[in-house]
Amino acid sequence: MSVAGARPNFMKLASIARAIEVHNASNKNPTIEHLIVHTGQHYDNRMSVLFFEELELPKPTINLNVGSASHAIQTAEIMKRFEPVLLEHQPDVMVLVGDVNSTVACALVASKIKYDSEQNGSLAEGQNSRGSRPLIAHVEAGLRSFDRDMPEEINRILTDALSDLLFITEEDAILNLQREGIAREKIYFVGNVMIDTLLKNLKKAEQLNSTVIRSDFHLNRGDGYALVTLHRPSNVDQPETLNALMGCLKTISSKIPIIFPMHPRTKGNLEKFGIYQRMSESNGILITEPLGYLEFLGLLRSARLVLTDSGGIQEETTFLRIPCITLRENTERPVTITLGTNYLVGIHLEEILETAFAVLDGRGKKGEIPPLWDGKAGQRIVEALINKMVRAAYD
Ligand code: UD1
Repeated sequence: MSVAGARPNFMKLASIARAIEVHNASNKNPTIEHLIVHTGQHYDNRMSVLFFEELELPKPTINLNVGSASHAIQTAEIMKRFEPVLLEHQPDVMVLVGDVNSTVACALVASKIKYDSEQNGSLAEGQNSRGSRPLIAHVEAGLRSFDRDMPEEINRILTDALSDLLFITEEDAILNLQREGIAREKIYFVGNVMIDTLLKNLKKAEQLNSTVIRSDFHLNRGDGYALVTLHRPSNVDQPETLNALMGCLKTISSKIPIIFPMHPRTKGNLEKFGIYQRMSESNGILITEPLGYLEFLGLLRSARLVLTDSGGIQEETTFLRIPCITLRENTERPVTITLGTNYLVGIHLEEILETAFAVLDGRGKKGEIPPLWDGKAGQRIVEALINKMVRAAYD
């Protein structure tokens, strides 16, 4: 059983779902029955359904429909609604991806559940040596920003502490996990499932860029543009910070047009602080609704510069070798800086502008692709899970 709740989960899950389908089609034993639970943390068409369609993800078997709320209420609501689902289906393995509230909520439930052994027909009696709960596998484990003000950092630490298999995307994660007392044999360096999905969809996205996207955004072939995304509470929840960042984007837009697909949290706050109108009327800044996966990847592919506070986009730009300016004080993905094309500039306006102009002058990092970001992470995860299950059955 795997869990997806919020937008960045869907591309990660797509790689795993596909690897399971490929495994089943190869007629290798055992056949894997895969159930998908959607918590409903993200629910707008453009934040959820569109991704399932574009990524050809199987429809979720169960939707918990939790919606938005405070962290405590959202997490608690997912836990309450997920427990009966887990008891009903009694999966052998729970696959959890990323670091959103849905991830930690389901990890907490799965780690404390007690299956009724008479109902658990999937393993022969006595073979379920780990006891009466599923194995918990965390995909994208071990990333640390060392900033506990970020809700995602809390979600990462807790999910990793509760997991039996920790699948990592970059080698720094090994030390991070060992420092927290996690045994080395639980850690599997498998690569990056986001990059699996990117590779699978890149051609389609490029075709879309050369036709539909360019006409939608009134871009001619060869026109340069910068792409911006912002949604972290630390950047968008305070009027002073948000206002300053918007001023910075306006300055950059005097040199290059900016396309800004806007997260609902950011749009809501711009409206609340009375800044939205001014931004939407700015020459050189095109604000759009949140985009689908293919449309966004198509734009990313041809951007001259990306400014973001997203985690996943730091990785996607590194893979595509596009300069990325990360508007945060820290990153849990250091390989995007040491090997990739990422710059960590915080929200220091002068540094943002200086870096952006250097990149536009052609002085950006060229970068290298990190090890194992090769499109096969999902396959490695499925192989590791099967090996672990087989071993657990004979322990
Ligand atoms: C969540 C994740 C974050 C991830 C981001 C990607 C946590 C703690 N945060 O943040 O790690 O980077 O998703 O988008 O899990 N809203 C809508 N429609 C939706 C979903 C949300 O309008 O479909 C609005 C609501 O006003 C909601 C707000 O966005 O209150 C924030 O949504 P929420 O899921 O709480 O967090 P994100 O900021 O999206």
